Amino acid sequence: MEKYIVTLDEGTTSARTLITNKKGEIIAVDQSEFTQLFPEEGWVEHDAVEIWNAQHKTLIQAMNKSKIKSEQIAAIGITNQRETVVVWNKTTGLPIYNAIVWQDQRTAKKVEGYSQAEVDLVKQKTGLIVHPYFSATKLEWILDNIEGARELANHGELMFGNINTWLIYRLSGGELFITDHTNAQRTLLYNIETNDWDDDLLKLFNIPRNMLPEIRSCSENYGLTYPGLLSKSDKTQIIIASSIGDQQSALFGQLCVNPSESKITYGTGCFILMNTGEKIVRSTHGLVTTVALAYDNKITYALEGSVLVAGAAVQWLRDNLRIVYNALETEWYAGQVHDNRRVYVVPSFTGLGAPYWDSYSRGAIFGLDRGTKREHIVRATLEAIAYQANDVISAMGKDMKAPITKLKVDGGAANNRFMMQFQADISQATVIKPTNVETTAMGAAYLAGLAVGYWKNIDDIKANYQVDFELEKNISEAESKKLIKGWNEAVRRTFSWTKD
Ligand code: G3P
Repeated sequence: MEKYIVTLDEGTTSARTLITNKKGEIIAVDQSEFTQLFPEEGWVEHDAVEIWNAQHKTLIQAMNKSKIKSEQIAAIGITNQRETVVVWNKTTGLPIYNAIVWQDQRTAKKVEGYSQAEVDLVKQKTGLIVHPYFSATKLEWILDNIEGARELANHGELMFGNINTWLIYRLSGGELFITDHTNAQRTLLYNIETNDWDDDLLKLFNIPRNMLPEIRSCSENYGLTYPGLLSKSDKTQIIIASSIGDQQSALFGQLCVNPSESKITYGTGCFILMNTGEKIVRSTHGLVTTVALAYDNKITYALEGSVLVAGAAVQWLRDNLRIVYNALETEWYAGQVHDNRRVYVVPSFTGLGAPYWDSYSRGAIFGLDRGTKREHIVRATLEAIAYQANDVISAMGKDMKAPITKLKVDGGAANNRFMMQFQADISQATVIKPTNVETTAMGAAYLAGLAVGYWKNIDDIKANYQVDFELEKNISEAESKKLIKGWNEAVRRTFSWTKD
């Protein structure tokens, strides 16, 4: 009886389930979007119960589509939007507040109040920066603003988790309260040298240790799903065998398993990670250090840069400016003009992430003249995504003291040839796109399969990686520098726009 791996890929806007075979082929997918809540300016929330229901529904529907039986599932793996905070009651199992999403900026003022010594301490211990993006200040906000929360937490009545922990808790019928090193590290409560929760950080952010999950590796048999997960009559219990943050999962799914290998995932935002092996590389150019993987009794690290708005800029062209009907059209419009006519779009709608970290920057279009057409604005928007990714790539090059010459790409925009060619040109690097762009789901699938012996080792999965296209740079370094100079100037002018 042929066996399969099921992956739950819980992203920022939708829950998905993918079913994979041994060759890494996807035999069934189901997806369900859930509500984005924006209760106040800069706030972003999700209903964690709705997320669980959406995830559960896609699991059932993907199983139905695949026509496989529950006993054919070798293991379930989980990958998730990171940093998002869920707090629930130990007794009822219900969240005490909506999940506060990684994009949420409600603690922007609060993070400005930390002393330099505290900021340095956090950086040294976590590899991250004190910023609303990460979990700690969001978790603290819930404890301080939801009535009775602090008291319940002090009495050990509350549980905190990122989405992976929440899903595993629900999948196991409340039996498992665990996270993995990649998710734990993005909380600001995890020490990258001891690889454990850190008491100084817990104290700084006022978080009781008893509400934190146990930290486990990304690939092991954690336990079983509850009987009846798939249907009331089906009592099959499935092994839950992987948990990994979505960006680290994509890094693994792209098989960037050796130091200096890097990937770009173009989604709503854009995330660039470079494997640095067992070495902790501390950025001096605005990037953060990330745990890349905990596998086979080894922790490996990555340098990471997060761009907050990427695909969201194309959505903005479509839904707000309404100058394209769909994202696919952008490639055509961009190709209708020879150059950007010195138009630059800076899509810092929610501030700028790496390497600038300016929460107060806002979007702008520069260089308009009477000849500027829709085509230029569309083109400049696609270019902006590549420029932002390139800002991170060049910061990585500086941190590593060696330029990055190869970039594996995935996510929606990886199919946009115009943009990928521009990325290759501007970054002076070879862009490589795999045939299977579901690298986020594949990472977690591989890790779950490795845990249960479905695949024997990493070499066993290498044959599953096939290249769709490789693009070489088409312009000289001098030309690329000239274009980047204009971009740098445009970005600079958006700094601190909303700062009083
Ligand atoms: O750090 C946030 C990231 O994990 C979100 O990824 O793909 O859900 O937008 P995505």
